[in-house]
Amino acid sequence: MKKFIFLITLSATILVFSSFKNETSVHYVHVNVQDVKGSELFHAKGCALCHSPEKKIVGPSLKEIANTYKGDVNKVLEFMNQKSKPIVNPKEFKYMQPVLGQLKRMKPEERKALATYYMSFYKK
Ligand code: HEC
Repeated sequence: MKKFIFLITLSATILVFSSFKNETSVHYVHVNVQDVKGSELFHAKGCALCHSPEKKIVGPSLKEIANTYKGDVNKVLEFMNQKSKPIVNPKEFKYMQPVLGQLKRMKPEERKALATYYMSFYKK
C-alpha cells in the first residue's frame, strides 16, 4: 500500500512538473516569434530608414523611445493608433506624421509586433 501511494505521488509530481515545463516553453517561443516578427516589420515597413536601435538618425533611437515609454507596449500602441500625442520629440513630429497613415493600414497584430519590438529596448 505504501509503495502504491508513493507511486501515485511520484507520477502526480512528474505530471505537474512536465505541464509547468510545457507552459513556460510555449510562452518563451511565443515571445520570441513576436520579437522576430517585429524586427522583420521594422525593416520591411521602412521604419529602419529613420530609426535605429542605439543611435538617432532622423527619428529617435528605439532605446530612447522605449525609455520614454518605460517599456509600456499599450501606451506606444495608443500613439501608433493616433489616440495619443507624441512625447519623445514632438518638435520633429512632422517627419513621423505621414507614417501614422501607413501604420493605420497595417493589421492590428503587425502594429502590436512593432510596438513590442520597440519596447524590447527598454532598460530599467
Ligand atoms: C521619415 C522618417 C521616419 C520613418 C520612416 C519612421 N519614423 Fe518614427 N519617428 C520619426 C521622427 C522624426 C520621430 C520623432 C518625432 C516624434 O516623437 O513623434 C519619430 C518617433 C516615433 C515614435 C515615438 C513617438 C512619440 O511618442 O514621440 C514611434 C513609436 C515611432 N516613431 C515609430 C515608428 C514606426 C513603427 C515606424 C515604421 C512603421 C516609423 N516610426 C517610421 C521619423 C520616422
